[in-house]
Amino acid sequence: MVQPEVLKKWDLGIGEASGFQVSDIHAYSITNFALFKFSDGRYVLFSAPGYKWQETVKQQVIGEGHSVLYFHTNDSAKVEGYLKFTQKPVVDTSLAPASRVLSLTDVASEFTRVLYESEMTSEKMVIATEISNQMVKCVQEDITCVAAIGKLANHHGYTYYHSARVAAYSIALAIEMGESDSLCLETIAIGCLLHDIGKSKIDLEILNKKSALTAVEWNLMRGHPEMGGDVVAGSNLDNSALEIILHHHERLDGEGYPHKLNSGEISKEVRIASFADTFDALTTNRPYQPSCTRFEALDVIRHRFLNQLDKGCFKAMISIMQKATKTA
Ligand SMILES: [Fe+2]
Ligand SMILES: [Fe+2]
Repeated sequence: MVQPEVLKKWDLGIGEASGFQVSDIHAYSITNFALFKFSDGRYVLFSAPGYKWQETVKQQVIGEGHSVLYFHTNDSAKVEGYLKFTQKPVVDTSLAPASRVLSLTDVASEFTRVLYESEMTSEKMVIATEISNQMVKCVQEDITCVAAIGKLANHHGYTYYHSARVAAYSIALAIEMGESDSLCLETIAIGCLLHDIGKSKIDLEILNKKSALTAVEWNLMRGHPEMGGDVVAGSNLDNSALEIILHHHERLDGEGYPHKLNSGEISKEVRIASFADTFDALTTNRPYQPSCTRFEALDVIRHRFLNQLDKGCFKAMISIMQKATKTA
C-alpha cells in the first residue's frame, strides 16, 4: 500500500484539480500521472506517475471512502489516454467465449491501431499482457470460439485485426497441441499480438497497396520482423515472444526470412505463430487477394505450404475446425 504523503510542491488549488473515479482504474494498469486524495481540505499525493495498480490497493482506497481521486488538470490528456486505452482490455467476462473472443479481437485491434500510431511504452506492454491473458482464458474455456473470428468486420483494416486473430488462432493451436500452461500460452499470445509491429515503421501506402510491390517495397516489407525486434527492444518481453516477432516469416524448408533459419532452429512457438499467420492471411480479404473459406485455406496449405509450415499445426487446425463445425 502506498503511504499517502504530503508534498508541498504538489499541493493544488481547487480550480486545478479534476476528479477520477477509482472504479475506473484497471487493476494491472500504470497511471502515468499523479493522483491525489482530498482530505482535511487539501490534496495529498496518493500515487506518483508510473504507479502500478493492484486490485487490493484499489479496493482499499474505495473502502477508505475515497471513491474519487484527483489529478492536476495539466494531466488531462494523459488521463483521457489512460481511460481510452487502459480500460479497453476489460471485456465482459460473463459473455460466452464465442462472443467474448469477438470483443477481445475488437479491443486488440484498437490497441494495435494505437501501437501503430504511437511509441511502444511499458504501459502499453501491460495492456498487451492483459489482452493476451484474457484471450488465453477465453480460448481455454472453449477452443472452438476461434472459428467465429474470421467473420469479423475489419473496421480498422486488415493489418490491425490480423494480429489479434493470429493471437487467438495461435492460442487455440497451442492448446490443441497439448500446451496447458497459461503463462506459456500468454507468451505465445503476446508475441502474436505484436508479431507484425515492425510494419508500423512502413508506409501505409505500401502496406495497403493493391498491386504487386516493387523490389524496393518488397525489401522494405521483408524488414518488418527485425524492425519489430527494434520496436520492443528494451521491454521485458519474454524471449519466446521476441522470437515470434523476429522469426514468424522463417520457413521449415529454409527459404524464409530474415535469417533463412532451418527447421531445427525454429521454435514450437514460432511454428505455431507462422501457421496462424498464414491461415489468417488466406482466410481474410486483403488488398490484393480475396479470402478463402477455412477449409479451402487448409487445402491451399496442404498443397502449397506443407513443406514450409509445421504439420502438427496443420493437423491441430483441422481438428479445431472440425470440432467447431460439429458444435455449430
Ligand atoms: Fe509478418
Ligand atoms: Fe502477420
